[in-house]
Amino acid sequence: MAQDTLTIRNNSNGQEADFPLLKGTVGTPVVDVSSLHNQMGLFTYDPGFLSTASCKSAITYIDGENGILLYRGYPIDQLAEKCSFLEVSYLLMNGDFGQPSEQAEFEREISHYAMLHEAMRGFIDGFHYDAHPMAMMVGIVGSLSAFYHSELNMNDPEHRRISAMRMLAKMPVIAAACHRHSIGYPYVYPRSDLSYGENFLNMMFSLPSQKYIDIDNYIDPVAVKALNLLFILHADHEQNASTSTVRLASSTGANPYACIAAGIAALWGPAHGGANEAVLSMLAEIGTVDRIPEYIEKAKDKNDPFRLMGFGHRVYKNFDPRATIIRKACYEVLESTSAKDPLFDLALALEEYALKDEYFIEKKLYPNVDFYSGIIYKALNIPVDMFTVMFTIARTAGWVSHWLEMMAEPGQRIGRPRQVYTGRDVRNL
Ligand code: CMC
Repeated sequence: MAQDTLTIRNNSNGQEADFPLLKGTVGTPVVDVSSLHNQMGLFTYDPGFLSTASCKSAITYIDGENGILLYRGYPIDQLAEKCSFLEVSYLLMNGDFGQPSEQAEFEREISHYAMLHEAMRGFIDGFHYDAHPMAMMVGIVGSLSAFYHSELNMNDPEHRRISAMRMLAKMPVIAAACHRHSIGYPYVYPRSDLSYGENFLNMMFSLPSQKYIDIDNYIDPVAVKALNLLFILHADHEQNASTSTVRLASSTGANPYACIAAGIAALWGPAHGGANEAVLSMLAEIGTVDRIPEYIEKAKDKNDPFRLMGFGHRVYKNFDPRATIIRKACYEVLESTSAKDPLFDLALALEEYALKDEYFIEKKLYPNVDFYSGIIYKALNIPVDMFTVMFTIARTAGWVSHWLEMMAEPGQRIGRPRQVYTGRDVRNL
């Protein structure tokens, strides 16, 4: 059967050319314009990639109109209900769930790779006590290739796998160390008898003088469950800004630690992963329900830079399925911790108010994953400046999966966009 094509006609000279239409398993067909310049002497212009697919990928699928999110074909709500974060990480990285023995070996390896090189302590100590933990994360993860340079032959699939495992394993350890450094507490080593989430909470909160976990005072299972849920919901989101950054950096052949550090830097922005921190600052600034209308007006005012943080999404135009799951989890966590948080009531009131407003209805702006995630993190005593770090830990599963997928693909080319030059034409001195 002949391949479907799309004809492009240049109305200025009548030239026409056909371009193949690519169809994925599901989703919008894509025009392959890679031969456009050769055929017609033209480039495409699409700032912000509003209509441009940058790669083929078999990892995650989003249907933004219908609020569908699938990891390797599995709906996010099913994964959130039935899986652990490390099972989901295995799924993302390998394409399918492992047999019980394979999953057990995966978790054993994660435990093994969690330890940090002792020399990294000195490196972490070099940061000023009040450094933002995301600044530390970018620096520390970027430095990993200086500590682990023995398995960096990127043409070797086993070296690539080990690098990916190292990052997934070490990310919570580095994250907790950043927090401990900021409060002047000693770093806590990871423990192989604890789950991924338990380990993180132990490394964050245990004290040498007082056990955080002991027989009588075991780590709060509600906190572990909530963390597992948030990590799964944040684990991947196809070609978002940070994942695309990881892919672009990787296309140059840069080492994987540097590429993931680039992803962390991209995630930090308030339009992306920094939104969860920004939501809490916004709610604190609004303060009380009676001030909501004032802030809604600010958000609608084109001359005011204020935006309703945690609202809107490039892809989701009806609802973000992750937000629905998190809102429900918020109730459960707040009830069980008896930490009645007035900011949650404020967030619910703000959502209700915004969803009735013509501006938000017309522009299809709904709460996204980060509108409620910060409220849960706050209830778990995670400091606000660590919220985006929490996102980083989870998204590492997605970043390394995309990196592994891309590196295994033959014929990779360096990512190199074109531009519309608007500067001066040639001129002489
Ligand atoms: N508050 C007020 N107006 C908004 C908002 C908002 N949060 N988001 C979008 N708009 C308006 C925007 O001003 C624009 O109006 P107009 O058409 O009149 O110019 C219209 O809606 C479309 O917005 P856009 O910025 O062109 O949309 P985008 O797809 O480029 O940006 C977004 C998506 C998420 C960056 C944006 O909605 C935003 O800045 N939201 C707040 C930050 C946020 O919550 N980010 C977390 C995203 S979810 C986590 C993640 O995956 O990283």
